[in-house]
Amino acid sequence: MEHQKSIIVLDFGGQYAHLIARRVRQCGVYSEIMDADTPAEELKNAAGIILSGGPQSVYDSESPQGDPGIFDLAIPVFGICYGLQWMVQALGGTVSPGTVKEYGKAKLQLEHTDVKVLSDLPEEMTVWMSHGDAVSALPEGFMRIGKSDDCEFAFVAQTEKDLYGVQFHPEVVHTEYGQDLIKNFVSLCNAEPWNIGSYVKNIGDAIKEEVGDRKIFMMVSGGVDSTVAFVLINKILGTDRVQGLLVDTGMMRKDEVLLVGRAFEELGIDNLRIEDASQYFLKKLVEVYEPEDKRWIIGDAFLSVQRRVSEEMGLTMDDGWMLGQGTIYPDTIETGETKNADKIKTHHNRIPEIQKMMEEGFVIEPLRDLYKDEVRELGVELGLPHDLVWRHPFPGPGLGVRILCAQSASTIEEDLDIAITHAGLPVQSVGVQGDGRSYRHAVSLFTHEQYPNEQCWNLATSIPNQSSAFNRVLMCTSHAEVPEFVFTPGYVTMKRSDLLREADALVHRIMYDAGFYADIWQFPVVLLPFGTSEGGQSIVLRPVESQEAMTANAAVIPELALKQMTKELLSLDGIDMVFQDLTHKPPGTIEWE
Ligand code: XMP
Repeated sequence: MEHQKSIIVLDFGGQYAHLIARRVRQCGVYSEIMDADTPAEELKNAAGIILSGGPQSVYDSESPQGDPGIFDLAIPVFGICYGLQWMVQALGGTVSPGTVKEYGKAKLQLEHTDVKVLSDLPEEMTVWMSHGDAVSALPEGFMRIGKSDDCEFAFVAQTEKDLYGVQFHPEVVHTEYGQDLIKNFVSLCNAEPWNIGSYVKNIGDAIKEEVGDRKIFMMVSGGVDSTVAFVLINKILGTDRVQGLLVDTGMMRKDEVLLVGRAFEELGIDNLRIEDASQYFLKKLVEVYEPEDKRWIIGDAFLSVQRRVSEEMGLTMDDGWMLGQGTIYPDTIETGETKNADKIKTHHNRIPEIQKMMEEGFVIEPLRDLYKDEVRELGVELGLPHDLVWRHPFPGPGLGVRILCAQSASTIEEDLDIAITHAGLPVQSVGVQGDGRSYRHAVSLFTHEQYPNEQCWNLATSIPNQSSAFNRVLMCTSHAEVPEFVFTPGYVTMKRSDLLREADALVHRIMYDAGFYADIWQFPVVLLPFGTSEGGQSIVLRPVESQEAMTANAAVIPELALKQMTKELLSLDGIDMVFQDLTHKPPGTIEWE
């Protein structure tokens, strides 16, 4: 959908661009992300422009640069971190390596409190800093309106042209009054109001126009996104112009197929076909060990099944059908759709075949502009039951991304100089470090309490920062001492899938009963191909708190619940060890692969 008078976030490479856009939308204005070098001409209908942070130095020759023409559009501009530095440099000021690198909390002192963007902010507030470079001289016409102990130009303004810049990150929760500041900036922009209600009103017409007299064939996974997308399309086009397909991949959660089928039945949606393709998927995954290969194969297999069923049912493009997908906004960016967002993982909705169909206009994605919490709001508007809408997000490739595959044990030479019993694990996992993808080892801590104390949580932050060998820190909840690890090569099989399904189901039951399901964004349960006996496996508990999955905090599991989970997991045939993942994102991703 075209959105006039919205606020554009130009992406200079930080993973935080999404957080900024979400914060703007929370102020009731539509916001989207575009490439840093988008020509000013294409931005002239924007109500405001925000320049995101990014990991590079503005004075490096390869660093992302915007079009300085944006400063002549008479549109308010707000630069954050790298965005501030690029603005300053583009307008004739200077940026240099800072004398002190500033990471974490700082005290911001505001001056000139009569400037509109500072309305209702206190004279002093705690802000979150993360920068090595700093502004050393301001362009003409700019003034300083805030500083910290280590940053002379922490907040600058050119009030006549409504240009503002901050060195700190107002979009993160650690910055006090960050949302108020963003709201102040938004109120300076002449933006049109936006909310999910107005979205629903407009999306109906937009979908009807895009679809024309075609019909929609849609893959449904049981997850929140595809469920909401499917119900939305059904409501807009009517059930006779829609056909759903739920493919049982053999990598679904326990009772998933049953639950989803029943939920649609209750909504009066009877156009969902359930196809058991588990043998087909698992056959394709024999001896596949690379996480990215696995994603591609699963994506391809979905497509083949979908193609076969659509031919059988006469639902092909030639017969006037389009493919519907439940892709949401962050999915389109983490795959690297804006140039400066590094590819972290390939999303299964963005494999080349789908991309080709998209270019030819055969794919419709009604949620592609929305964030997860907006999708949930929409689900409620559509009358979906609370429990379904508030289910934790679940990845499209299902348990497939949680069954860690490896052909051989991965040895780790490096040790850590820490005063706590620990061991590097014989497997690697994906992480995200410095806006890029990392593939490194996990280290586990062992204590007699078998419950993470403050020291363990601190190490979870400090180890990945200090060591280039480890990107994850775990706590062993089943063993007090380091046992001998026995590695068994493993790929995705029905046996491993069944084992993980049971493990996942019991963890979710205990979490639900202990009353902390609603506090958790997502709780992946991961199966690792090593244990303490031949063929034995390990389980990693990975509960996180998050808002958009772009960043996440490892969550605390109440002690009794953790002990109960560990005990029940160890009673499953084939599970030898249990760990809790204490790593935040970054540096660890939410999923392990
Ligand atoms: P990460 O692991 O990158 O995950 O921190 C961020 C969010 O994306 C989900 N995820 C996926 N979802 N297909 C999906 O539909 C995938 O291939 C995929 N990989 C990760 C993950 O569960 C989390 O919510």
